[in-house]
Amino acid sequence: MDHIEIEKLKSTVSKMMIDGKGVLAADESTKSCNARFQSLGIPETEEERRRWRELLLCAPGMEEYVSGVILYDETIRQSDSDGKLFTEILKEKGVLIGIKVDEGLQDYIGHTGETVTMGLNGLPARVQEYKSLGATFAKWRAAFKISEFTPTDDAIRENAELLARYAVICQEHDIVPMVEPEVLLDGTHDIEKAKEVTTKVLKGLFESLAKHHVHLDGLILKTSMVLSGKDSENRADAKTVGEYTVNVLKECVPAEVGGVVFLSGGQTPDEATENFNEIAKHEPLPWKIAFSFSRAIQNDALATWAGKSSNIDLAREAYMERLKNNSLADKGLL
Ligand code: G3H
Repeated sequence: MDHIEIEKLKSTVSKMMIDGKGVLAADESTKSCNARFQSLGIPETEEERRRWRELLLCAPGMEEYVSGVILYDETIRQSDSDGKLFTEILKEKGVLIGIKVDEGLQDYIGHTGETVTMGLNGLPARVQEYKSLGATFAKWRAAFKISEFTPTDDAIRENAELLARYAVICQEHDIVPMVEPEVLLDGTHDIEKAKEVTTKVLKGLFESLAKHHVHLDGLILKTSMVLSGKDSENRADAKTVGEYTVNVLKECVPAEVGGVVFLSGGQTPDEATENFNEIAKHEPLPWKIAFSFSRAIQNDALATWAGKSSNIDLAREAYMERLKNNSLADKGLL
């Protein structure tokens, strides 16, 4: 793989991992975005999704806290209400363009309750096209559910293999892979169990990345925090989450990795920010860290907007407030 231009990848990574900034996840699939709209009575149309993305992407000043945005296929082709492409607007703001390239989860045959991620078929051509549309990084998400029997070693191995193959394809096109092995929050497990599973998942991932000779300094890990299950009886507090998360990452994530960003995964917005702040208090760490939330940044703003033009300013205020707090948390200053 000596044709890979590692300096280009490293330059993208360093622009993404700027202190005090994070990577906004705005890459919800049409189905996920519609599900959020439905619960608020917002029409589930392409135009409403475009308006929502315009509210987020074109908010004045968002670039103070956002180094990059992950888009969905529909959004990377859309424009603001004056017809200017979102990608052009983001470039002018100095915000990097990312794209979700996986095609979602499917049942993992023979493994009840587990999933593998689709999207490798035709991926080189899609990555090439996204590059021509301005993308410099690309995300792929695998999901692991904690239960008495899951995740199995098979599911960890299979998903790690897919993540590594997608990462190679991205790097061959000068696109930074943002590899996302999400350990889900759902369940009654305690934080010890989350630590055990996250450790296994991350070790499996880095074994596959090494096997495929992925350049770790041209890659970003997008990880879940180590958390007690949503329905656990005694949920660990933020300080404990910070300690467990940092310890697991130090044990599993090689120091060469370009950066580590965190997903919010269904935590409340306040919880995600507070936990991230506790993680950041452990800096300096072997890698730069940043937030890369979707729901924990968008939820209040979406509910405030509710599809009404008259609510745009208020919704943007709520959005900017979340961004600002996460920027402070990035420095452990909340
Ligand atoms: O794939 C998931 C997104 O990139 C992060 O979303 O912060 O709502 O978990 P979340």
